[in-house]
Amino acid sequence: MPKHLAIIMDGNGRWAKRHLQARTFGHKAGAQKIQEITEFCAKYGITHLSLYAFSTENWKRPKAEVNFLMRLLEEYLDSKFSTYLENNIIFKSIGDLSIFSQSLQQKIQHLEQESLKQCNGLTQILALNYGSQDELRRAFLKLSKEMLSIDAIENALDTAGIPNVDMLIRTGGEMRLSNFLLWQSAYAELFFTKTLWPDFSKEELESMLLEFKNRNRRFGGL
Ligand code: FPP
Repeated sequence: MPKHLAIIMDGNGRWAKRHLQARTFGHKAGAQKIQEITEFCAKYGITHLSLYAFSTENWKRPKAEVNFLMRLLEEYLDSKFSTYLENNIIFKSIGDLSIFSQSLQQKIQHLEQESLKQCNGLTQILALNYGSQDELRRAFLKLSKEMLSIDAIENALDTAGIPNVDMLIRTGGEMRLSNFLLWQSAYAELFFTKTLWPDFSKEELESMLLEFKNRNRRFGGL
């Protein structure tokens, strides 16, 4: 079983288009899918689930869509606060939060602190204003030349203390990593599906997990 599963939740916009709706409708549906998949992962014994919610490159989108995603995130944190605690899910963010509004930063920190205090189940890691290249840049700034060992770099990343990614899924049909957990996915098993994120299901995830079991992971050895 993978300990750490990472998901690139792609395809919200196309899902909305298929339903003859605005892209924002797809993002709403995408946000709703998160809880179902998180609960399934917790039951399956996955200990860390990383979700790519907003990248450092997503600021290039039209302002109205970016604003909508910020509002959606804020609403999501408000409405799901107690769900995290009831379901014993630890919430953690990665990425550079300093660009977000004070109120959004406070909501993120509040849920991080309370869920860490009260829960001991799966850790859900939400990537917000996250890009691997920016994460590495920020990590290197913390380190001196003498300290540049693999362990020191790992401990300076946003994911310090979190095991490396075992399995990475991208929905939506594209076959790329888009600056998500590049260091941490060095030996991740990759899975790509054409299913758009709002249509992704527990059943499809379960069949991927079964395939993961049968993959031969050699980590560069024989
Ligand atoms: C990709 O769809 C999706 C994102 C921009 C990131 C994922 C966002 C969510 C699941 C919703 C917001 C999350 C929270 C936590 C509130 P896309 O717009 O790139 O789809 P497309 O490739 O079909 O255009």
